[in-house]
Amino acid sequence: MIDLIVKEIRKKKEFQNLDALFVKSLIKKEYERVKDGLIGHVNPKKSKDFKNIIKNSRKILHDIYGVFNIDTKKRKEILEKIKKNPHNKDLHRHLLETHRSSKERLFFYENLYEKILSKKDKTILDIGCGLNPVSWIFMKNKPQKYIALELTNEDCAFLNDYFKAVKLNGKALRVDLLKVKSFEAADVCFIFKVLDSLEEVKKGISKEILNKLQCKKIIVSFPSRTLSGKGRIGTRRWFERLIKKFEKFEIENEIFYIINKENLY
Ligand SMILES: C[S@@+](CC[C@H](N)C(=O)[O-])C[C@H]1O[C@@H](n2cnc3c(N)ncnc32)[C@H](O)[C@@H]1O
Repeated sequence: MIDLIVKEIRKKKEFQNLDALFVKSLIKKEYERVKDGLIGHVNPKKSKDFKNIIKNSRKILHDIYGVFNIDTKKRKEILEKIKKNPHNKDLHRHLLETHRSSKERLFFYENLYEKILSKKDKTILDIGCGLNPVSWIFMKNKPQKYIALELTNEDCAFLNDYFKAVKLNGKALRVDLLKVKSFEAADVCFIFKVLDSLEEVKKGISKEILNKLQCKKIIVSFPSRTLSGKGRIGTRRWFERLIKKFEKFEIENEIFYIINKENLY
């Protein structure tokens, strides 16, 4: 029955790239609650519980994944152009515009990297990266190594293709951050706009992730506007209570925390 539900959820184009096992683990709790009714039903697909679990799960998946992908077809077309013109900043800007998070900080990248990166930051780990690795073009120094972690094979294949096109020593790996056991070491780790949605699904996961990082410097960000853009979301008190010492600053729509791993707790 649970496989039938997962299949139904993934019928929607927005979720086709999501790994079936990931979807399964996400809906498990709600499934346990309704499974007896569903299994005993003559036509489970027509039942209220079935329709509800599909609707609720799709909403969660939309919020943590689907909502960010603006135009994946255009993304591929832009990459083809980048292959012919690998260091063109405008093409990079267009590519960053196809993911909602990088689109929002598009005009702040140069200042942002100036502020958070130093010459010593040669290797970068970017978790729940979206298209952010493409923004390396706005860094003063080209990273020696860029490790990018994302949720779907499709997105990772795209990023690996991109790394090859621009000859950046990068690799994108498919990882479910809710289950990851360890992270590769790096000088700096970016956790941009990821923790809110992970916490929605698994309370306490931020601390688990921070504990597993092997990076001297950690940069965490949160949106300071709701997805509709109308409401303001302020400081994350729960996060500030978690970290002993940090430096905080804001750009439009986003709050950043610079954390030294030694000062975590
Ligand atoms: C708000 S976007 C931020 C993207 C990027 N960090 C940025 O700020 O430009 C959140 C990203 O986290 C990824 N994500 C969500 N849940 C995840 C999980 N369990 N494991 C890995 N990645 C996940 C989504 O696919 C999405 O690209």
